[in-house]
Amino acid sequence: MTVIRERFCLTVVPQVGAPNRTALRDGLREAQAAICTLTEGIDGAVLKAAPHLRVIANYAVGYNNIAVDEAKAKGVVVTNTPDVLTEATADLTWALLLATARRVPEGDRLVRSGAWTGWEPTQLLGADVCGKTLGIIGMGRIGRAVARRAKGFDMPVRYYNRTTLDPSTLNDQWRPTSWQEVLAGSDFISLHVPLTAETHHLIGNAELRLMRPTAYLINTTRGPVVDEAALVAAIQEGRLAGAGLDVYEQEPALHPGLRTLPQVVTLPHLGSATLNTRIQMGMICVQNILAVLEGRPAPNRVA
Ligand code: DGY
Repeated sequence: MTVIRERFCLTVVPQVGAPNRTALRDGLREAQAAICTLTEGIDGAVLKAAPHLRVIANYAVGYNNIAVDEAKAKGVVVTNTPDVLTEATADLTWALLLATARRVPEGDRLVRSGAWTGWEPTQLLGADVCGKTLGIIGMGRIGRAVARRAKGFDMPVRYYNRTTLDPSTLNDQWRPTSWQEVLAGSDFISLHVPLTAETHHLIGNAELRLMRPTAYLINTTRGPVVDEAALVAAIQEGRLAGAGLDVYEQEPALHPGLRTLPQVVTLPHLGSATLNTRIQMGMICVQNILAVLEGRPAPNRVA
Protein backbone atom coordinates (compact mmCIF):
# COMPACT_ATOMS: atom_id res chain seq x y z
CA MET A 1 0.00 0.00 0.00
CA THR A 2 2.88 2.35 0.77
CA VAL A 3 4.35 1.85 -2.70
CA ILE A 4 0.99 2.49 -4.33
CA ARG A 5 0.19 5.52 -2.17
CA GLU A 6 3.43 7.16 -3.27
CA ARG A 7 2.26 7.21 -6.89
CA PHE A 8 -1.49 6.80 -6.99
CA CYS A 9 -4.68 7.60 -5.20
CA LEU A 10 -5.41 4.51 -3.09
CA THR A 11 -8.84 3.53 -1.82
CA VAL A 12 -9.15 0.63 0.61
CA VAL A 13 -12.64 -0.87 0.93
CA PRO A 14 -13.40 -1.79 3.62
CA GLN A 15 -10.51 -1.18 5.99
CA VAL A 16 -11.11 -4.54 7.69
CA GLY A 17 -12.69 -7.74 6.36
CA ALA A 18 -14.12 -8.58 2.96
CA PRO A 19 -16.31 -6.01 1.17
CA ASN A 20 -19.94 -6.73 0.45
CA ARG A 21 -21.04 -6.40 -3.17
CA THR A 22 -22.19 -2.80 -2.82
CA ALA A 23 -18.90 -1.76 -1.23
CA LEU A 24 -17.04 -3.62 -3.96
CA ARG A 25 -18.95 -1.91 -6.75
CA ASP A 26 -18.68 1.51 -5.10
CA GLY A 27 -14.99 1.04 -4.38
CA LEU A 28 -14.21 0.15 -7.98
CA ARG A 29 -16.36 2.81 -9.65
CA GLU A 30 -13.47 5.22 -10.29
CA ALA A 31 -10.63 2.68 -10.16
CA GLN A 32 -8.19 2.06 -12.98
CA ALA A 33 -6.50 -0.76 -11.13
CA ALA A 34 -7.65 -3.13 -8.39
CA ILE A 35 -5.94 -5.50 -6.03
CA CYS A 36 -8.41 -8.06 -4.75
CA THR A 37 -8.23 -11.21 -2.69
CA LEU A 38 -9.89 -14.57 -3.20
CA THR A 39 -12.86 -13.53 -1.04
CA GLU A 40 -13.93 -10.89 -3.60
CA GLY A 41 -16.14 -12.25 -6.35
CA ILE A 42 -15.36 -10.11 -9.39
CA ASP A 43 -18.19 -11.09 -11.71
CA GLY A 44 -19.80 -9.44 -14.71
CA ALA A 45 -21.90 -7.06 -12.58
CA VAL A 46 -18.87 -5.84 -10.63
CA LEU A 47 -16.89 -5.38 -13.85
CA LYS A 48 -19.78 -3.41 -15.34
CA ALA A 49 -19.73 -1.06 -12.34
CA ALA A 50 -16.01 -0.39 -12.91
CA PRO A 51 -15.85 1.30 -16.32
CA HIS A 52 -12.29 2.66 -15.91
CA LEU A 53 -10.71 -0.60 -14.77
CA ARG A 54 -7.64 -1.71 -16.72
CA VAL A 55 -6.13 -4.33 -14.46
CA ILE A 56 -7.17 -6.61 -11.62
CA ALA A 57 -4.27 -8.05 -9.65
CA ASN A 58 -5.53 -11.01 -7.67
CA TYR A 59 -3.69 -11.48 -4.38
CA ALA A 60 -3.63 -15.28 -4.85
CA VAL A 61 -2.41 -17.81 -7.35
CA GLY A 62 -5.94 -19.20 -7.80
CA TYR A 63 -8.25 -16.81 -9.62
CA ASN A 64 -11.56 -18.65 -9.66
CA ASN A 65 -13.09 -15.60 -7.91
CA ILE A 66 -12.75 -13.56 -11.12
CA ALA A 67 -14.86 -13.85 -14.26
CA VAL A 68 -11.77 -13.90 -16.46
CA ASP A 69 -13.58 -14.28 -19.79
CA GLU A 70 -15.72 -11.25 -19.05
CA ALA A 71 -12.70 -9.28 -17.90
CA LYS A 72 -10.87 -10.23 -21.08
CA ALA A 73 -13.84 -9.22 -23.22
CA LYS A 74 -13.75 -5.80 -21.54
CA GLY A 75 -10.00 -5.48 -22.08
CA VAL A 76 -9.25 -5.76 -18.35
CA VAL A 77 -5.97 -7.55 -17.63
CA VAL A 78 -6.12 -10.15 -14.84
CA THR A 79 -2.96 -11.20 -12.98
CA ASN A 80 -2.15 -13.63 -10.16
CA THR A 81 0.75 -14.39 -7.77
CA PRO A 82 2.43 -17.65 -8.83
CA ASP A 83 5.79 -19.04 -7.63
CA VAL A 84 6.21 -16.96 -4.45
CA LEU A 85 3.69 -19.06 -2.53
CA THR A 86 4.67 -22.48 -3.86
CA GLU A 87 7.00 -23.50 -1.03
CA ALA A 88 4.84 -22.06 1.78
CA THR A 89 1.80 -23.91 0.45
CA ALA A 90 3.76 -27.15 0.07
CA ASP A 91 5.02 -26.81 3.67
CA LEU A 92 1.48 -26.29 4.93
CA THR A 93 0.29 -29.31 2.95
CA TRP A 94 2.82 -31.43 4.82
CA ALA A 95 1.88 -29.87 8.14
CA LEU A 96 -1.71 -30.89 7.46
CA LEU A 97 -0.77 -34.37 6.28
CA LEU A 98 1.33 -35.06 9.37
CA ALA A 99 -1.18 -33.46 11.74
CA THR A 100 -3.98 -35.59 10.30
CA ALA A 101 -2.08 -38.88 10.27
CA ARG A 102 -0.61 -38.40 13.77
CA ARG A 103 -3.68 -36.75 15.33
CA VAL A 104 -1.75 -33.67 16.39
CA PRO A 105 -4.77 -31.41 17.10
CA GLU A 106 -6.43 -34.13 19.19
CA GLY A 107 -3.24 -34.51 21.22
CA ASP A 108 -2.98 -30.76 21.69
CA ARG A 109 -6.60 -30.57 22.85
CA LEU A 110 -6.09 -33.46 25.27
CA VAL A 111 -3.06 -31.90 26.93
CA ARG A 112 -4.67 -28.45 27.22
CA SER A 113 -7.93 -29.88 28.59
CA GLY A 114 -6.17 -31.14 31.69
CA ALA A 115 -7.71 -34.60 31.09
CA TRP A 116 -4.42 -36.20 30.06
CA THR A 117 -3.51 -38.79 32.66
CA GLY A 118 -0.12 -39.71 31.22
CA TRP A 119 1.46 -41.98 28.62
CA GLU A 120 -0.53 -45.03 27.54
CA PRO A 121 0.36 -47.71 24.98
CA THR A 122 -2.78 -47.24 22.90
CA GLN A 123 -3.36 -43.52 23.32
CA LEU A 124 -4.21 -41.54 20.17
CA LEU A 125 -2.71 -44.07 17.80
CA GLY A 126 -2.27 -42.65 14.33
CA ALA A 127 -1.08 -43.86 10.95
CA ASP A 128 2.48 -44.29 9.71
CA VAL A 129 3.64 -41.68 7.23
CA CYS A 130 7.19 -42.77 6.43
CA GLY A 131 7.31 -45.25 3.56
CA LYS A 132 3.64 -44.85 2.62
CA THR A 133 2.55 -43.93 -0.89
CA LEU A 134 1.77 -40.30 -1.65
CA GLY A 135 -0.68 -39.66 -4.47
CA ILE A 136 -0.78 -36.20 -6.00
CA ILE A 137 -3.59 -34.95 -8.18
CA GLY A 138 -2.41 -31.95 -10.16
CA MET A 139 1.35 -31.91 -10.69
CA GLY A 140 1.79 -28.17 -11.18
CA ARG A 141 4.23 -26.02 -9.22
CA ILE A 142 2.69 -26.75 -5.81
CA GLY A 143 2.08 -30.44 -6.53
CA ARG A 144 5.74 -30.85 -7.48
CA ALA A 145 6.94 -28.98 -4.37
CA VAL A 146 4.84 -31.33 -2.24
CA ALA A 147 6.30 -34.31 -4.11
CA ARG A 148 9.88 -33.10 -3.53
CA ARG A 149 9.32 -33.16 0.23
CA ALA A 150 8.19 -36.82 0.09
CA LYS A 151 11.82 -37.86 -0.35
CA GLY A 152 12.55 -37.06 3.27
CA PHE A 153 9.81 -39.45 4.33
CA ASP A 154 10.89 -42.23 1.93
CA MET A 155 7.51 -42.06 0.30
CA PRO A 156 7.00 -43.25 -3.26
CA VAL A 157 5.07 -40.63 -5.25
CA ARG A 158 2.50 -41.38 -7.89
CA TYR A 159 0.58 -38.64 -9.58
CA TYR A 160 -2.19 -37.86 -11.99
CA ASN A 161 -2.04 -34.81 -14.21
CA ARG A 162 -4.60 -34.06 -16.89
CA THR A 163 -2.03 -32.79 -19.37
CA THR A 164 1.44 -34.02 -20.32
CA LEU A 165 4.15 -32.28 -18.32
CA ASP A 166 7.56 -30.98 -19.29
CA PRO A 167 9.87 -33.88 -18.26
CA SER A 168 12.54 -31.41 -17.09
CA THR A 169 10.21 -30.37 -14.24
CA LEU A 170 9.72 -33.95 -13.05
CA ASN A 171 11.70 -36.43 -11.01
CA ASP A 172 12.22 -39.99 -12.30
CA GLN A 173 11.05 -41.31 -8.96
CA TRP A 174 7.59 -39.81 -9.39
CA ARG A 175 5.31 -42.21 -11.24
CA PRO A 176 2.55 -40.92 -13.52
CA THR A 177 -0.55 -43.09 -13.13
CA SER A 178 -4.13 -43.25 -14.20
CA TRP A 179 -6.80 -41.38 -12.31
CA GLN A 180 -8.12 -44.66 -10.82
CA GLU A 181 -4.67 -45.83 -9.79
CA VAL A 182 -3.73 -42.66 -7.97
CA LEU A 183 -6.97 -42.86 -5.99
CA ALA A 184 -6.91 -46.61 -5.31
CA GLY A 185 -3.18 -47.02 -4.79
CA SER A 186 -2.25 -44.14 -2.46
CA ASP A 187 -2.17 -43.86 1.32
CA PHE A 188 -2.27 -40.07 1.22
CA ILE A 189 -3.90 -38.17 -1.63
CA SER A 190 -3.12 -34.48 -1.94
CA LEU A 191 -5.09 -32.20 -4.26
CA HIS A 192 -3.36 -29.47 -6.27
CA VAL A 193 -5.68 -28.64 -9.16
CA PRO A 194 -7.12 -25.17 -9.73
CA LEU A 195 -10.87 -24.73 -9.25
CA THR A 196 -12.63 -24.64 -12.63
CA ALA A 197 -15.97 -25.88 -13.92
CA GLU A 198 -14.22 -29.19 -14.69
CA THR A 199 -12.67 -29.66 -11.25
CA HIS A 200 -15.76 -28.72 -9.23
CA HIS A 201 -16.50 -31.83 -7.07
CA LEU A 202 -13.62 -33.65 -8.73
CA ILE A 203 -13.57 -35.77 -5.58
CA GLY A 204 -17.11 -37.01 -5.00
CA ASN A 205 -18.78 -40.19 -3.88
CA ALA A 206 -17.47 -42.32 -6.78
CA GLU A 207 -13.87 -41.17 -6.29
CA LEU A 208 -14.00 -41.60 -2.50
CA ARG A 209 -15.23 -45.16 -3.03
CA LEU A 210 -12.09 -45.90 -5.04
CA MET A 211 -9.82 -44.83 -2.17
CA ARG A 212 -8.50 -47.20 0.49
CA PRO A 213 -10.36 -47.19 3.82
CA THR A 214 -6.98 -46.47 5.41
CA ALA A 215 -6.25 -43.49 3.13
CA TYR A 216 -6.26 -39.78 4.00
CA LEU A 217 -7.33 -36.93 1.73
CA ILE A 218 -5.46 -33.63 1.98
CA ASN A 219 -6.88 -30.50 0.36
CA THR A 220 -4.99 -27.21 0.26
CA THR A 221 -6.27 -25.98 -3.11
CA ARG A 222 -9.94 -24.91 -3.24
CA GLY A 223 -12.84 -26.32 -1.21
CA PRO A 224 -15.33 -26.96 -4.03
CA VAL A 225 -12.90 -29.45 -5.60
CA VAL A 226 -14.22 -31.86 -2.94
CA ASP A 227 -17.88 -32.75 -2.37
CA GLU A 228 -17.89 -32.19 1.39
CA ALA A 229 -21.13 -34.09 2.02
CA ALA A 230 -19.66 -37.14 0.26
CA LEU A 231 -16.41 -36.74 2.21
CA VAL A 232 -18.23 -36.63 5.54
CA ALA A 233 -20.24 -39.74 4.61
CA ALA A 234 -17.09 -41.62 3.55
CA ILE A 235 -15.37 -40.92 6.89
CA GLN A 236 -18.49 -41.60 8.95
CA GLU A 237 -18.97 -44.95 7.19
CA GLY A 238 -15.32 -45.95 7.64
CA ARG A 239 -14.54 -45.81 3.91
CA LEU A 240 -11.79 -43.22 4.43
CA ALA A 241 -9.46 -42.83 7.42
CA GLY A 242 -9.55 -39.04 7.58
CA ALA A 243 -8.95 -35.71 5.88
CA GLY A 244 -6.77 -32.66 6.33
CA LEU A 245 -8.50 -29.56 4.99
CA ASP A 246 -7.29 -25.99 4.57
CA VAL A 247 -10.14 -24.98 2.27
CA TYR A 248 -13.93 -25.43 2.20
CA GLU A 249 -16.84 -25.38 -0.18
CA GLN A 250 -18.51 -22.33 1.42
CA GLU A 251 -15.71 -20.51 3.25
CA PRO A 252 -15.79 -19.53 6.02
CA ALA A 253 -18.75 -21.85 6.70
CA LEU A 254 -18.01 -25.45 7.56
CA HIS A 255 -20.09 -28.50 6.69
CA PRO A 256 -21.51 -29.59 10.10
CA GLY A 257 -20.04 -33.07 9.70
CA LEU A 258 -16.54 -31.69 9.33
CA ARG A 259 -16.85 -29.81 12.60
CA THR A 260 -17.52 -32.94 14.64
CA LEU A 261 -15.40 -35.67 13.03
CA PRO A 262 -12.15 -36.12 15.00
CA GLN A 263 -10.56 -37.72 11.91
CA VAL A 264 -10.70 -34.35 10.14
CA VAL A 265 -8.11 -31.64 10.76
CA THR A 266 -9.28 -28.18 9.75
CA LEU A 267 -7.23 -25.06 9.09
CA PRO A 268 -8.49 -21.59 8.11
CA HIS A 269 -7.07 -21.37 4.54
CA LEU A 270 -3.48 -20.82 5.65
CA GLY A 271 -1.64 -22.26 2.63
CA SER A 272 0.35 -19.15 1.74
CA ALA A 273 0.19 -17.57 5.20
CA THR A 274 3.79 -16.76 6.02
CA LEU A 275 4.84 -13.14 6.45
CA ASN A 276 7.50 -13.36 3.78
CA THR A 277 5.17 -15.00 1.25
CA ARG A 278 2.34 -12.56 1.82
CA ILE A 279 4.72 -9.59 1.39
CA GLN A 280 5.98 -11.05 -1.87
CA MET A 281 2.43 -11.65 -3.07
CA GLY A 282 1.63 -8.00 -2.38
CA MET A 283 4.70 -6.81 -4.25
CA ILE A 284 3.79 -8.97 -7.25
CA CYS A 285 0.37 -7.33 -7.33
CA VAL A 286 2.05 -3.91 -7.30
CA GLN A 287 4.44 -4.87 -10.12
CA ASN A 288 1.57 -6.09 -12.27
CA ILE A 289 -0.48 -2.99 -11.71
CA LEU A 290 2.42 -0.68 -12.44
CA ALA A 291 3.20 -2.59 -15.64
CA VAL A 292 -0.31 -2.22 -17.02
CA LEU A 293 -0.71 1.42 -15.99
CA GLU A 294 2.65 2.23 -17.54
CA GLY A 295 1.79 0.44 -20.78
CA ARG A 296 4.07 -2.59 -20.29
CA PRO A 297 3.03 -6.27 -20.42
CA ALA A 298 1.92 -7.58 -17.02
CA PRO A 299 4.46 -10.18 -15.80
CA ASN A 300 1.82 -12.49 -14.33
CA ARG A 301 -1.05 -12.11 -16.74
CA VAL A 302 -3.61 -14.93 -16.72
CA ALA A 303 -6.18 -13.20 -18.96
C1 DGY B 1 -3.99 -18.82 -3.43
O1 DGY B 1 -3.01 -18.12 -3.66
O2 DGY B 1 -4.73 -19.22 -4.32
C2 DGY B 1 -4.23 -19.21 -2.00
O3 DGY B 1 -5.38 -19.93 -1.82
C3 DGY B 1 -4.18 -18.01 -1.08
O4 DGY B 1 -2.89 -17.56 -1.07
